[in-house]
Amino acid sequence: MPDAPDLDPAILTSGVPLLGICYGMQLIAHRLGGELVKLDRAEYGPAVLRIDDARSPLFAGVPRESRVWMSHGDSVVRLPSGFTSLASTERCAVAAMGDATRKVYGVQFHPEVVHTEHGRVILENFLSRIAEVPRDWAMESFVDAAIAEIRERLGEARAICALSGGVDSAVAATLVARAIGKQLTCIFVDHGLLRKGEAEQVISAFRDVLHLDVRAIDARERFLEALSGVDDPERKRIIIGHEFIAIFEEAARAIPGVRFLVQGTLYPDVIESKTPESKAGQKIKSHHNVGGLPERMHLELLEPLRMLFKDEVRALGRVLGLPEPIVRRQPFPGPGLAVRIIGDVTAERLQILRDADAIVREEIDRAPLSPHPWQYFAVLTPVRSVGVMGDGRTYANLVAVRAITSEDGMTADWARLPPELLERISTRIVNEVRGVNRVAYDITSKPPATVEWE
Ligand code: XMP
Repeated sequence: MPDAPDLDPAILTSGVPLLGICYGMQLIAHRLGGELVKLDRAEYGPAVLRIDDARSPLFAGVPRESRVWMSHGDSVVRLPSGFTSLASTERCAVAAMGDATRKVYGVQFHPEVVHTEHGRVILENFLSRIAEVPRDWAMESFVDAAIAEIRERLGEARAICALSGGVDSAVAATLVARAIGKQLTCIFVDHGLLRKGEAEQVISAFRDVLHLDVRAIDARERFLEALSGVDDPERKRIIIGHEFIAIFEEAARAIPGVRFLVQGTLYPDVIESKTPESKAGQKIKSHHNVGGLPERMHLELLEPLRMLFKDEVRALGRVLGLPEPIVRRQPFPGPGLAVRIIGDVTAERLQILRDADAIVREEIDRAPLSPHPWQYFAVLTPVRSVGVMGDGRTYANLVAVRAITSEDGMTADWARLPPELLERISTRIVNEVRGVNRVAYDITSKPPATVEWE
Protein backbone atom coordinates (compact mmCIF):
# COMPACT_ATOMS: atom_id res chain seq x y z
CA MET A 1 0.00 0.00 0.00
CA PRO A 2 1.70 3.24 -1.06
CA ASP A 3 2.00 5.87 1.60
CA ALA A 4 -0.64 8.55 1.45
CA PRO A 5 0.55 11.74 3.09
CA ASP A 6 -2.86 13.32 2.52
CA LEU A 7 -4.59 11.19 5.12
CA ASP A 8 -3.79 12.24 8.63
CA PRO A 9 -4.19 9.03 10.72
CA ALA A 10 -5.52 11.09 13.63
CA ILE A 11 -8.60 11.93 11.60
CA LEU A 12 -9.66 8.27 11.63
CA THR A 13 -10.06 8.26 15.37
CA SER A 14 -11.18 11.87 15.80
CA GLY A 15 -14.92 11.15 15.62
CA VAL A 16 -15.29 13.18 12.38
CA PRO A 17 -17.69 11.36 10.01
CA LEU A 18 -15.74 10.06 7.00
CA LEU A 19 -16.57 8.61 3.61
CA GLY A 20 -13.63 7.10 1.74
CA ILE A 21 -14.12 6.72 -2.01
CA CYS A 22 -12.24 4.07 -3.99
CA TYR A 23 -8.61 4.45 -2.91
CA GLY A 24 -9.95 6.38 0.08
CA MET A 25 -11.86 3.31 1.27
CA GLN A 26 -8.73 1.17 0.85
CA LEU A 27 -6.72 3.65 2.89
CA ILE A 28 -9.26 3.59 5.69
CA ALA A 29 -9.33 -0.22 5.66
CA HIS A 30 -5.54 -0.43 5.63
CA ARG A 31 -4.95 2.15 8.34
CA LEU A 32 -7.52 0.59 10.68
CA GLY A 33 -6.09 -2.93 10.40
CA GLY A 34 -8.02 -4.45 7.51
CA GLU A 35 -6.41 -6.38 4.66
CA LEU A 36 -6.12 -5.67 0.95
CA VAL A 37 -5.12 -7.85 -1.98
CA LYS A 38 -3.99 -6.94 -5.45
CA LEU A 39 -6.47 -8.15 -8.06
CA ASP A 40 -5.14 -10.34 -10.89
CA ARG A 41 -7.00 -8.10 -13.26
CA ALA A 42 -8.03 -4.55 -12.33
CA GLU A 43 -11.78 -3.94 -12.33
CA TYR A 44 -12.60 -1.00 -14.53
CA GLY A 45 -15.98 0.13 -15.81
CA PRO A 46 -19.61 -0.61 -15.00
CA ALA A 47 -20.70 -3.16 -12.40
CA VAL A 48 -23.92 -4.09 -10.64
CA LEU A 49 -23.93 -3.10 -6.98
CA ARG A 50 -25.91 -5.36 -4.66
CA ILE A 51 -26.80 -3.85 -1.33
CA ASP A 52 -26.32 -6.40 1.44
CA ASP A 53 -27.41 -4.18 4.32
CA ALA A 54 -30.46 -2.25 3.17
CA ARG A 55 -30.87 -0.66 6.63
CA SER A 56 -27.65 1.29 6.31
CA PRO A 57 -28.39 5.02 6.09
CA LEU A 58 -25.77 5.25 3.32
CA PHE A 59 -28.11 3.41 0.95
CA ALA A 60 -31.47 4.88 1.97
CA GLY A 61 -33.61 5.20 -1.16
CA VAL A 62 -31.16 3.23 -3.32
CA PRO A 63 -32.56 0.09 -5.03
CA ARG A 64 -31.19 -3.31 -4.02
CA GLU A 65 -29.36 -3.52 -7.35
CA SER A 66 -28.03 -0.60 -9.35
CA ARG A 67 -25.27 0.32 -11.78
CA VAL A 68 -22.01 1.73 -10.40
CA TRP A 69 -18.64 2.66 -11.88
CA MET A 70 -15.56 0.75 -10.72
CA SER A 71 -11.90 1.56 -11.17
CA HIS A 72 -9.56 -0.32 -8.87
CA GLY A 73 -6.63 -2.71 -8.84
CA ASP A 74 -6.75 -3.62 -5.11
CA SER A 75 -9.62 -4.96 -3.07
CA VAL A 76 -10.46 -5.13 0.64
CA VAL A 77 -10.56 -8.78 1.70
CA ARG A 78 -10.66 -8.42 5.50
CA LEU A 79 -12.55 -5.64 7.21
CA PRO A 80 -11.09 -3.65 10.09
CA SER A 81 -12.76 -4.44 13.41
CA GLY A 82 -16.03 -2.65 13.97
CA PHE A 83 -16.84 -2.56 10.23
CA THR A 84 -19.43 -4.53 8.31
CA SER A 85 -19.68 -5.08 4.59
CA LEU A 86 -22.66 -3.16 3.21
CA ALA A 87 -22.61 -3.99 -0.49
CA SER A 88 -20.85 -6.11 -3.09
CA THR A 89 -20.47 -6.62 -6.81
CA GLU A 90 -19.74 -9.81 -8.72
CA ARG A 91 -16.00 -9.20 -8.63
CA CYS A 92 -15.74 -7.20 -5.43
CA ALA A 93 -16.86 -8.77 -2.15
CA VAL A 94 -16.57 -5.50 -0.23
CA ALA A 95 -17.91 -2.77 -2.47
CA ALA A 96 -19.01 -0.71 0.54
CA MET A 97 -18.20 -0.91 4.24
CA GLY A 98 -19.15 1.04 7.30
CA ASP A 99 -18.80 1.43 11.04
CA ALA A 100 -22.01 3.12 12.18
CA THR A 101 -20.64 3.85 15.66
CA ARG A 102 -17.58 5.70 14.41
CA LYS A 103 -19.49 7.06 11.39
CA VAL A 104 -16.67 5.95 9.11
CA TYR A 105 -17.70 4.57 5.73
CA GLY A 106 -16.07 3.53 2.48
CA VAL A 107 -17.25 2.75 -1.04
CA GLN A 108 -15.04 1.01 -3.58
CA PHE A 109 -16.99 2.41 -6.55
CA HIS A 110 -17.19 6.04 -7.66
CA PRO A 111 -20.42 7.71 -6.50
CA GLU A 112 -19.26 11.05 -7.93
CA VAL A 113 -19.39 10.03 -11.62
CA VAL A 114 -22.53 10.13 -13.76
CA HIS A 115 -22.17 6.44 -14.64
CA THR A 116 -23.07 5.54 -11.06
CA GLU A 117 -26.86 5.60 -11.19
CA HIS A 118 -27.58 6.60 -7.60
CA GLY A 119 -24.23 8.17 -6.74
CA ARG A 120 -25.71 11.51 -5.88
CA VAL A 121 -28.22 9.96 -3.47
CA ILE A 122 -25.43 8.04 -1.75
CA LEU A 123 -23.35 11.20 -1.32
CA GLU A 124 -26.38 13.10 -0.04
CA ASN A 125 -27.17 10.28 2.37
CA PHE A 126 -23.69 10.48 3.78
CA LEU A 127 -23.84 14.24 4.20
CA SER A 128 -27.35 14.54 5.60
CA ARG A 129 -28.07 11.20 7.33
CA ILE A 130 -24.62 10.30 8.62
CA ALA A 131 -22.56 13.47 8.93
CA GLU A 132 -25.71 15.54 9.62
CA VAL A 133 -24.27 18.52 7.77
CA PRO A 134 -26.70 21.46 7.74
CA ARG A 135 -27.66 22.65 4.25
CA ASP A 136 -26.67 26.25 4.77
CA TRP A 137 -23.82 26.73 2.26
CA ALA A 138 -24.38 29.58 -0.14
CA MET A 139 -22.18 31.08 -2.81
CA GLU A 140 -22.46 34.49 -1.13
CA SER A 141 -20.83 33.14 2.03
CA PHE A 142 -18.06 31.61 -0.09
CA VAL A 143 -17.42 35.06 -1.58
CA ASP A 144 -17.19 36.70 1.86
CA ALA A 145 -14.87 34.03 3.21
CA ALA A 146 -12.66 34.05 0.10
CA ILE A 147 -12.34 37.84 0.12
CA ALA A 148 -11.37 37.86 3.80
CA GLU A 149 -8.79 35.14 3.18
CA ILE A 150 -7.27 36.91 0.16
CA ARG A 151 -7.01 40.22 2.06
CA GLU A 152 -5.37 38.53 4.98
CA ARG A 153 -2.83 36.72 2.77
CA LEU A 154 -1.95 39.61 0.47
CA GLY A 155 -2.07 42.60 2.78
CA GLU A 156 -0.66 45.49 0.75
CA ALA A 157 1.06 43.24 -1.81
CA ARG A 158 0.39 43.51 -5.55
CA ALA A 159 -0.83 40.70 -7.77
CA ILE A 160 -1.11 40.00 -11.49
CA CYS A 161 -3.44 37.75 -13.42
CA ALA A 162 -3.41 36.54 -17.02
CA LEU A 163 -6.87 36.86 -18.54
CA SER A 164 -7.43 34.32 -21.30
CA GLY A 165 -11.05 35.10 -22.04
CA GLY A 166 -12.05 31.84 -20.32
CA VAL A 167 -14.40 31.67 -17.39
CA ASP A 168 -11.86 30.43 -14.82
CA SER A 169 -9.35 33.26 -15.09
CA ALA A 170 -12.22 35.75 -15.40
CA VAL A 171 -13.85 34.63 -12.18
CA ALA A 172 -10.53 34.36 -10.32
CA ALA A 173 -9.54 37.89 -11.36
CA THR A 174 -12.92 39.35 -10.45
CA LEU A 175 -12.90 37.71 -7.03
CA VAL A 176 -9.37 38.89 -6.26
CA ALA A 177 -10.18 42.39 -7.48
CA ARG A 178 -13.15 42.45 -5.08
CA ALA A 179 -10.69 41.73 -2.30
CA ILE A 180 -7.73 43.96 -3.16
CA GLY A 181 -9.02 46.37 -5.83
CA LYS A 182 -6.28 48.21 -7.68
CA GLN A 183 -3.53 46.08 -6.14
CA LEU A 184 -4.47 43.61 -8.90
CA THR A 185 -3.39 44.17 -12.48
CA CYS A 186 -4.77 41.93 -15.20
CA ILE A 187 -2.79 41.21 -18.33
CA PHE A 188 -4.60 40.23 -21.48
CA VAL A 189 -2.34 39.00 -24.26
CA ASP A 190 -4.24 39.25 -27.53
CA HIS A 191 -2.61 36.50 -29.57
CA GLY A 192 -5.10 36.99 -32.38
CA LEU A 193 -6.29 33.40 -32.06
CA LEU A 194 -9.57 34.06 -30.28
CA ARG A 195 -12.96 33.87 -31.93
CA LYS A 196 -14.71 36.74 -33.65
CA GLY A 197 -15.27 39.69 -31.32
CA GLU A 198 -13.89 37.86 -28.29
CA ALA A 199 -10.84 39.98 -27.57
CA GLU A 200 -12.91 43.17 -27.62
CA GLN A 201 -15.56 41.50 -25.46
CA VAL A 202 -13.02 40.48 -22.82
CA ILE A 203 -11.38 43.90 -22.65
CA SER A 204 -14.65 45.78 -22.51
CA ALA A 205 -16.20 43.44 -19.92
CA PHE A 206 -13.27 43.82 -17.61
CA ARG A 207 -12.56 47.49 -18.11
CA ASP A 208 -15.99 48.98 -18.58
CA VAL A 209 -18.28 46.62 -16.69
CA LEU A 210 -16.08 45.32 -13.90
CA HIS A 211 -13.68 48.28 -13.77
CA LEU A 212 -10.58 46.14 -13.44
CA ASP A 213 -7.11 47.40 -14.23
CA VAL A 214 -6.46 45.57 -17.53
CA ARG A 215 -3.31 45.90 -19.64
CA ALA A 216 -4.13 44.65 -23.11
CA ILE A 217 -1.17 43.69 -25.26
CA ASP A 218 -1.67 43.45 -28.98
CA ALA A 219 0.62 40.57 -29.93
CA ARG A 220 -1.23 39.42 -33.03
CA GLU A 221 1.65 40.07 -35.44
CA ARG A 222 4.17 38.45 -33.16
CA PHE A 223 2.15 35.22 -32.94
CA LEU A 224 1.53 35.11 -36.67
CA GLU A 225 5.24 35.48 -37.34
CA ALA A 226 6.11 32.76 -34.83
CA LEU A 227 3.55 30.42 -36.38
CA SER A 228 4.47 31.11 -39.97
CA GLY A 229 5.01 27.89 -41.94
CA VAL A 230 4.19 25.63 -38.97
CA ASP A 231 1.55 22.98 -39.57
CA ASP A 232 2.24 20.39 -36.88
CA PRO A 233 -0.38 21.00 -34.13
CA GLU A 234 1.90 20.02 -31.29
CA ARG A 235 4.56 22.48 -32.49
CA LYS A 236 1.88 25.15 -32.76
CA ARG A 237 0.95 24.54 -29.13
CA ILE A 238 4.57 24.73 -27.99
CA ILE A 239 5.32 27.90 -29.96
CA ILE A 240 2.18 29.61 -28.69
CA GLY A 241 2.98 28.55 -25.14
CA HIS A 242 6.53 29.94 -25.27
CA GLU A 243 5.47 33.14 -26.94
CA PHE A 244 2.67 33.66 -24.45
CA ILE A 245 4.94 33.21 -21.45
CA ALA A 246 7.58 35.53 -22.90
CA ILE A 247 5.07 38.30 -23.54
CA PHE A 248 3.35 37.86 -20.21
CA GLU A 249 6.68 37.94 -18.42
CA GLU A 250 7.71 41.18 -20.15
CA ALA A 251 4.42 42.77 -19.18
CA ALA A 252 4.61 41.50 -15.63
CA ARG A 253 8.15 42.83 -15.13
CA ALA A 254 6.94 46.28 -16.08
CA ILE A 255 4.67 46.32 -13.04
CA PRO A 256 6.71 47.09 -9.92
CA GLY A 257 6.40 45.22 -6.66
CA VAL A 258 4.33 42.25 -7.79
CA ARG A 259 4.40 39.34 -5.35
CA PHE A 260 1.46 37.16 -6.38
CA LEU A 261 0.25 35.46 -9.55
CA VAL A 262 -3.48 34.74 -9.61
CA GLN A 263 -4.54 31.54 -11.34
CA GLY A 264 -7.95 30.05 -12.03
CA THR A 265 -6.97 26.53 -10.99
CA LEU A 266 -10.05 24.41 -10.29
CA TYR A 267 -10.53 21.41 -8.02
CA PRO A 268 -10.36 18.87 -10.89
CA ASP A 269 -6.96 20.34 -11.86
CA VAL A 270 -5.81 19.94 -8.26
CA ILE A 271 -6.86 16.28 -8.22
CA GLU A 272 -5.48 15.63 -11.71
CA SER A 273 -2.09 17.08 -10.94
CA LYS A 274 -1.72 14.47 -8.20
CA THR A 275 -2.14 11.49 -10.53
CA PRO A 276 0.66 10.29 -12.77
CA GLU A 277 -1.55 9.77 -15.82
CA SER A 278 -2.38 13.47 -15.92
CA LYS A 279 1.05 14.57 -17.12
CA ALA A 280 0.01 14.99 -20.74
CA GLY A 281 -3.04 17.00 -19.74
CA GLN A 282 -0.96 19.29 -17.59
CA LYS A 283 1.41 19.92 -20.43
CA ILE A 284 -1.41 20.81 -22.77
CA LYS A 285 -2.66 23.38 -20.34
CA SER A 286 0.77 24.68 -19.39
CA HIS A 287 0.77 27.83 -21.45
CA HIS A 288 -2.74 28.55 -20.26
CA ASN A 289 -1.67 28.79 -16.69
CA VAL A 290 1.69 30.42 -17.44
CA GLY A 291 3.59 27.40 -16.15
CA GLY A 292 7.13 27.94 -14.92
CA LEU A 293 6.62 31.64 -14.44
CA PRO A 294 6.03 31.70 -10.68
CA GLU A 295 9.43 30.11 -10.00
CA ARG A 296 11.34 32.27 -12.48
CA MET A 297 9.81 35.50 -11.29
CA HIS A 298 9.68 34.46 -7.65
CA LEU A 299 5.94 34.89 -7.56
CA GLU A 300 3.65 33.24 -5.06
CA LEU A 301 0.58 31.52 -6.47
CA LEU A 302 -2.87 32.62 -5.47
CA GLU A 303 -5.53 30.10 -6.55
CA PRO A 304 -8.86 31.20 -5.05
CA LEU A 305 -10.95 28.66 -7.02
CA ARG A 306 -8.99 25.55 -6.14
CA MET A 307 -11.82 24.08 -4.08
CA LEU A 308 -14.50 24.62 -6.74
CA PHE A 309 -15.87 22.66 -9.66
CA LYS A 310 -16.66 24.27 -13.01
CA ASP A 311 -20.40 24.65 -12.40
CA GLU A 312 -19.64 26.30 -9.05
CA VAL A 313 -17.22 28.67 -10.76
CA ARG A 314 -19.99 29.66 -13.17
CA ALA A 315 -22.37 30.23 -10.24
CA LEU A 316 -19.69 32.31 -8.53
CA GLY A 317 -19.18 34.34 -11.71
CA ARG A 318 -22.88 35.17 -11.74
CA VAL A 319 -22.83 36.20 -8.08
CA LEU A 320 -19.87 38.47 -8.88
CA GLY A 321 -21.79 40.07 -11.76
CA LEU A 322 -19.75 38.73 -14.68
CA PRO A 323 -21.49 39.17 -18.04
CA GLU A 324 -23.38 36.06 -19.16
CA PRO A 325 -21.34 35.45 -22.39
CA ILE A 326 -18.22 35.09 -20.26
CA VAL A 327 -19.91 32.91 -17.62
CA ARG A 328 -21.35 30.60 -20.28
CA ARG A 329 -18.33 30.55 -22.55
CA GLN A 330 -17.72 27.19 -24.19
CA PRO A 331 -14.49 25.31 -23.51
CA PHE A 332 -11.86 26.64 -25.87
CA PRO A 333 -8.30 25.41 -26.46
CA GLY A 334 -5.58 27.62 -25.00
CA PRO A 335 -3.86 27.81 -28.43
CA GLY A 336 -7.20 28.93 -29.82
CA LEU A 337 -8.02 28.92 -33.50
CA ALA A 338 -4.46 27.91 -34.36
CA VAL A 339 -5.43 24.30 -33.64
CA ARG A 340 -8.70 24.60 -35.54
CA ILE A 341 -6.84 25.59 -38.70
CA ILE A 342 -5.38 22.42 -40.07
CA GLY A 343 -2.11 23.41 -41.66
CA ASP A 344 -0.51 26.82 -41.93
CA VAL A 345 -1.96 29.66 -39.82
CA THR A 346 -2.14 32.91 -41.78
CA ALA A 347 -4.07 36.14 -41.28
CA GLU A 348 -6.26 35.25 -44.24
CA ARG A 349 -7.07 31.75 -43.01
CA LEU A 350 -7.77 33.08 -39.52
CA GLN A 351 -10.25 35.51 -41.01
CA ILE A 352 -12.02 32.73 -42.93
CA LEU A 353 -12.29 30.52 -39.86
CA ARG A 354 -13.41 33.37 -37.60
CA ASP A 355 -16.21 34.33 -39.98
CA ALA A 356 -17.38 30.75 -40.54
CA ASP A 357 -17.21 29.99 -36.81
CA ALA A 358 -19.26 33.08 -35.96
CA ILE A 359 -22.04 31.82 -38.27
CA VAL A 360 -21.99 28.35 -36.69
CA ARG A 361 -22.28 29.83 -33.21
CA GLU A 362 -24.90 32.38 -34.14
CA GLU A 363 -27.17 29.82 -35.82
CA ILE A 364 -26.85 27.17 -33.10
CA ASP A 365 -27.28 29.75 -30.31
CA ARG A 366 -30.47 30.90 -31.91
CA ALA A 367 -31.97 27.41 -32.47
CA PRO A 368 -34.33 25.91 -29.87
CA LEU A 369 -32.45 22.64 -29.41
CA SER A 370 -32.90 20.05 -26.72
CA PRO A 371 -30.41 19.08 -25.53
CA HIS A 372 -28.42 22.11 -26.56
CA PRO A 373 -25.01 21.02 -27.86
CA TRP A 374 -22.24 21.36 -25.32
CA GLN A 375 -19.67 22.73 -27.75
CA TYR A 376 -19.87 23.80 -31.39
CA PHE A 377 -17.43 25.40 -33.77
CA ALA A 378 -15.97 25.48 -37.26
CA VAL A 379 -12.71 23.96 -38.45
CA LEU A 380 -10.75 25.13 -41.48
CA THR A 381 -9.45 22.08 -43.33
CA PRO A 382 -6.50 22.08 -45.75
CA VAL A 383 -8.80 20.65 -48.44
CA ARG A 384 -9.71 22.74 -51.46
CA SER A 385 -12.18 21.55 -54.02
CA VAL A 386 -13.99 22.63 -57.15
CA GLY A 387 -17.38 24.28 -56.98
CA VAL A 388 -19.71 26.39 -59.08
CA MET A 389 -20.96 29.75 -57.97
CA GLY A 390 -23.13 31.80 -60.28
CA ASP A 391 -21.77 30.83 -63.65
CA GLY A 392 -18.17 30.60 -62.55
CA ARG A 393 -15.94 27.78 -61.38
CA THR A 394 -14.46 28.08 -57.87
CA TYR A 395 -11.58 26.31 -56.26
CA ALA A 396 -11.90 27.07 -52.57
CA ASN A 397 -11.70 25.84 -48.97
CA LEU A 398 -13.66 23.15 -47.17
CA VAL A 399 -14.97 24.15 -43.74
CA ALA A 400 -16.00 21.44 -41.28
CA VAL A 401 -18.63 22.00 -38.62
CA ARG A 402 -18.36 20.19 -35.29
CA ALA A 403 -21.18 20.15 -32.71
CA ILE A 404 -21.15 17.74 -29.78
CA THR A 405 -23.17 16.75 -26.76
CA SER A 406 -21.09 15.94 -23.71
CA GLU A 407 -20.90 16.17 -19.91
CA ASP A 408 -17.30 17.17 -19.56
CA GLY A 409 -15.51 16.82 -22.90
CA MET A 410 -13.95 13.50 -21.87
CA THR A 411 -16.43 11.61 -24.01
CA ALA A 412 -18.75 13.15 -26.57
CA ASP A 413 -21.35 12.34 -29.17
CA TRP A 414 -21.99 14.30 -32.34
CA ALA A 415 -25.10 16.43 -32.01
CA ARG A 416 -28.07 15.38 -34.15
CA LEU A 417 -28.72 18.87 -35.50
CA PRO A 418 -31.91 19.32 -37.56
CA PRO A 419 -31.24 19.26 -41.32
CA GLU A 420 -32.81 22.73 -41.74
CA LEU A 421 -30.30 24.15 -39.25
CA LEU A 422 -27.39 22.46 -41.01
CA GLU A 423 -28.69 23.79 -44.29
CA ARG A 424 -28.84 27.34 -42.96
CA ILE A 425 -25.31 27.08 -41.58
CA SER A 426 -23.96 25.71 -44.83
CA THR A 427 -25.74 28.23 -47.05
CA ARG A 428 -24.68 31.16 -44.92
CA ILE A 429 -21.04 30.08 -44.73
CA VAL A 430 -20.74 29.57 -48.48
CA ASN A 431 -22.57 32.82 -49.25
CA GLU A 432 -21.02 35.03 -46.61
CA VAL A 433 -17.46 33.79 -46.15
CA ARG A 434 -15.13 34.50 -49.00
CA GLY A 435 -12.89 31.58 -49.86
CA VAL A 436 -15.26 28.77 -48.82
CA ASN A 437 -17.29 26.73 -51.30
CA ARG A 438 -18.06 23.55 -49.34
CA VAL A 439 -19.21 22.66 -45.80
CA ALA A 440 -19.04 19.23 -44.13
CA TYR A 441 -20.57 18.09 -40.82
CA ASP A 442 -18.47 15.89 -38.51
CA ILE A 443 -20.46 12.80 -37.45
CA THR A 444 -17.83 11.13 -35.29
CA SER A 445 -18.13 10.61 -31.55
CA LYS A 446 -15.29 10.71 -28.99
CA PRO A 447 -13.87 8.14 -28.77
CA PRO A 448 -12.70 7.21 -31.38
CA ALA A 449 -12.23 10.84 -32.54
CA THR A 450 -11.34 13.75 -30.28
CA VAL A 451 -13.41 16.91 -29.94
CA GLU A 452 -10.83 19.14 -31.59
CA TRP A 453 -9.56 18.21 -35.02
CA GLU A 454 -5.90 19.22 -34.77
P1 XMP B 1 -10.15 16.85 -27.17
O1 XMP B 1 -9.83 17.45 -28.49
O2 XMP B 1 -8.93 16.42 -26.41
O3 XMP B 1 -10.80 18.02 -26.30
O4 XMP B 1 -11.16 15.77 -27.23
C1 XMP B 1 -11.50 17.83 -25.08
C2 XMP B 1 -11.96 19.18 -24.58
O5 XMP B 1 -10.83 19.97 -24.18
C3 XMP B 1 -10.81 21.19 -24.89
N1 XMP B 1 -9.39 21.52 -25.15
C4 XMP B 1 -8.67 22.36 -24.39
N2 XMP B 1 -9.02 23.09 -23.31
N3 XMP B 1 -6.83 24.00 -23.24
C5 XMP B 1 -8.08 23.91 -22.74
O6 XMP B 1 -8.38 24.58 -21.74
C6 XMP B 1 -6.40 23.30 -24.32
O7 XMP B 1 -5.27 23.42 -24.75
C7 XMP B 1 -7.39 22.43 -24.92
N4 XMP B 1 -7.35 21.59 -25.98
C8 XMP B 1 -8.60 21.03 -26.10
C9 XMP B 1 -11.61 20.93 -26.16
O8 XMP B 1 -12.13 22.11 -26.72
C10 XMP B 1 -12.69 20.00 -25.64
O9 XMP B 1 -13.72 20.71 -25.00
